[in-house]
Amino acid sequence: MKSERASFGSKFGIIMAAAGSAVGLGNIWRFPVETGNNGGAAFILIYILAIALLGVPLMVAEFFVGRHAHTNAAHAYRKLSSHPLWSNIGFIGAFGGSLILCYYVVVAGWVLKYMFLSIDGTLGALFTPGDASGYESLFGTFVSSTWSPLIYMAAFVLMCHFAITAGVRRGIEKLSKIFMPALFVILVVLVVLSLFAPGAQEGLSFLFHPDFSKLTTRSVLLAIAQAFFSLSLCMGCLCTYASYFGKDVNIIRSAANISIIDTMVAIMSGLIIFPAVFSAGIDPQSGPSLAFIALPGAFCEAFSGVPMLASLISILFYALLVLAALTSAISLYEVPTAYIHETWHIRRRYAAMLVTVVCLLLGTVCSLSMGLWGDVQLFGKNIFDLLDYFCTTIMMPLSGVFIALFVGWVVKRSVFIDDVTNEHALRPGPAKLIWWLLRWVAPVLLLAAFLGVLGVI
Ligand code: PHE
Repeated sequence: MKSERASFGSKFGIIMAAAGSAVGLGNIWRFPVETGNNGGAAFILIYILAIALLGVPLMVAEFFVGRHAHTNAAHAYRKLSSHPLWSNIGFIGAFGGSLILCYYVVVAGWVLKYMFLSIDGTLGALFTPGDASGYESLFGTFVSSTWSPLIYMAAFVLMCHFAITAGVRRGIEKLSKIFMPALFVILVVLVVLSLFAPGAQEGLSFLFHPDFSKLTTRSVLLAIAQAFFSLSLCMGCLCTYASYFGKDVNIIRSAANISIIDTMVAIMSGLIIFPAVFSAGIDPQSGPSLAFIALPGAFCEAFSGVPMLASLISILFYALLVLAALTSAISLYEVPTAYIHETWHIRRRYAAMLVTVVCLLLGTVCSLSMGLWGDVQLFGKNIFDLLDYFCTTIMMPLSGVFIALFVGWVVKRSVFIDDVTNEHALRPGPAKLIWWLLRWVAPVLLLAAFLGVLGVI
């Protein structure tokens, strides 16, 4: 079966698709939680540094490899080196990305459920001033139950499946071009509304006044891990997407734009969440439960005079999360789909079907590990937490070290510069700077982060 390889149709489509991969639950759900737990603004500063010094260069590296090789992420590195150590590094990312997909869809299912709970008024009805116990038991009962989370997860997986089978241009690109602007509009509306909440002042100062005494080595490591997760780095997604880029795309500018969009969305989510959290008197460190336990009540509390507005905000917020999760999950889906489609030479539709079946099976295991199979634990973590820990703190930095070393040391500098400057149609300065960062800065910082996570240093 020999057919022309798919490609994106426009530069705007490329930015929207890659930004769609980056902007996801990581920005809206995880970023505020990490910021809350690690001292607010000081954490954000480290996070922005990590994006500039590591994130953008590694995104350029992945774009370069993907576009140059013009094939799926697992095989792309082979086209640039035949050495067995280097030719297989794409598999680390492709494997990690596929694992992330399996627990990402579980959380996405929760978000879908919460969107319906805000539409049918359940969340609003549970509100008792100063008491989040109703939301706590709702969330606890829901995630630990057997069927309900599975049904929502399956519904979300099917949405991804149909988007992927529609193809690169008609599925991924078209949806991203609609969803991303919609997401941005919802975000702006929510930020404006939340700046009128009574706790806005406190929320803003938490976000923008750095307290460096709260920063620890661990928070620096977490900032790097969060930056990687949020930018969808080193998990094969960006490399796969770049294999659909045209030769005229300015990959450095695209990487910079995508990183800026992603960081803006993360900070805007903080602007939505922290004012609400502070006006409700909730501890900003309440962890992952922030979005599901603290927020529904916080929205009601912040706009207690106008319940209609509170429920509108709640609906918009969870709709925002669903859209963001969908475009990210689609990018994770594309990695194994493209691999299976191109390696086994089977139709894209069948490749996607296989991914769907595996994702449903592993997603079920992750979902059940929150309840029925909660006792199955390793290192004190259930399967869900273990997968998240393994992917974000081990696979991602490890894959990052290899990619940086590969582009900085194994690939010839001239091949990188020629490709990234579009055969010298663009100025060489930025490409040289990125190459230098990939050669000297990224491997050292990432190795330190990786060893730090393992507790070696
Ligand atoms: N970047 C996505 C988010 O912020 C998650 C993701 C990670 C997607 C890795 C693809 C690869 O939610």
